[in-house]
Amino acid sequence: MTETDFAYLFSSAFEDDYQKYKSFDDFKLERLISRGEISAALSLQIKNRRRAFNKFSRASELFFTSSGLEQASSEAIARHLAERLSIFPKVVDLGCGLGFNSIFLAAVGTSVTAVDCDLDRLRLAKANAAVYGVAEKITFLEEDFLSPSFSDFYENKLLNFGTNLAFFLDPARNLAGDRKTRSLINSKPNLFELLPKIFEFTNNVAVKISPAFDYRELEQLPGDPELELISENGVCKVAMLWFGAFKKTKRRATVLGANQKIFSLTSGPESFEFSRPLNYLYLPDKAVARAQLTATFAAAYDLKLISPIIPLLSASNFKRVPASRYFKTISQGPFSLKSLKRLLKEQKIDRAELVLWHLQLKVEELRERLKLKEGGGRTIFVFFTEQTGNYYILAENIQKLET
Ligand SMILES: C[S@@+](CC[C@H](N)C(=O)[O-])C[C@H]1O[C@@H](n2cnc3c(N)ncnc32)[C@H](O)[C@@H]1O
Repeated sequence: MTETDFAYLFSSAFEDDYQKYKSFDDFKLERLISRGEISAALSLQIKNRRRAFNKFSRASELFFTSSGLEQASSEAIARHLAERLSIFPKVVDLGCGLGFNSIFLAAVGTSVTAVDCDLDRLRLAKANAAVYGVAEKITFLEEDFLSPSFSDFYENKLLNFGTNLAFFLDPARNLAGDRKTRSLINSKPNLFELLPKIFEFTNNVAVKISPAFDYRELEQLPGDPELELISENGVCKVAMLWFGAFKKTKRRATVLGANQKIFSLTSGPESFEFSRPLNYLYLPDKAVARAQLTATFAAAYDLKLISPIIPLLSASNFKRVPASRYFKTISQGPFSLKSLKRLLKEQKIDRAELVLWHLQLKVEELRERLKLKEGGGRTIFVFFTEQTGNYYILAENIQKLET
């Protein structure tokens, strides 16, 4: 962004223009830019603010870059992280981006130092902090925390903020050409290189990583962190590594709804009671399986596993369990395309949701072959396990109950 762009963005003329053009669709905005009637900077903020509504309640007042918005923690997640991070009075946000983690951390009273080497993002972060009324509570530093080395940065730039600092780190995961990495080595900065350097000063470090991380890679990391999987509105969005005093358990699944925590499960007793699928089926939120807590969930709610590798649980009687979808089993048995087609025909079912596990077949391919449309209040689970071979369960969706 140019100086002219910044001067415009932070002026009252921008707010007036935003109000005037915010309802224009992308096509109209492009036309106005080509005629020289509005600037590209205005059009970009309008488009990004629109995209940001599902992440931020105050999206219409905030400032974004497109890549910064994509990488930003949502309000619900940033609030949850802030709650956990705030056990330390002083936190350094290493790579603050557009500032959302720093903002919610400052909002709960933590003293925050927000560092980024990208001056544009830092300027927008400051403006965003002002929107939330916390700009005075954050010290913004334009620095490359790896230059010339992390220890040099720590000793020369951070010690002014006192000792007993804890660190929050949200490494960039974007590669060239719009691709994203889930590898901890390819993230920027590379966690395998940076963490040992931070650990020379403190173990109190929290790191946000892709929820699609590889468990084998995670095991190679130093520091034996707590692993937390966080889902928001049913989508597993973030994984967190909590080191040092931040670590409270081995693994945790946290389910967030509209700005509130709905459910949290930590490592505990596990039940490996297996059974063929019983009358009622329970599909816990994806964060539970991703945190490898399905057997803990089964123990907590007295449910049976079908196999160690299937995140679907069952019980003979209906019961309320948190953060789960419920189903009633209609029929089940060995899966073949032919027999399932016959069954659907007999039962006059032409719509259902499909959930597949451990099969070569993809959902769309099976949908096509079964000539099955979406919806219809039923779900067909198809999976392969050593115990069952190829297997299907046809089930009726039970409406979501309040938990
Ligand atoms: C994923 S973004 C952070 C997003 C932020 N947590 C949010 O919610 O808006 C990562 C940030 O780290 C910054 N960064 C990466 N390496 C850095 C370094 N060596 N020094 C300073 N900043 C760095 C990038 O410029 C980028 O803004």
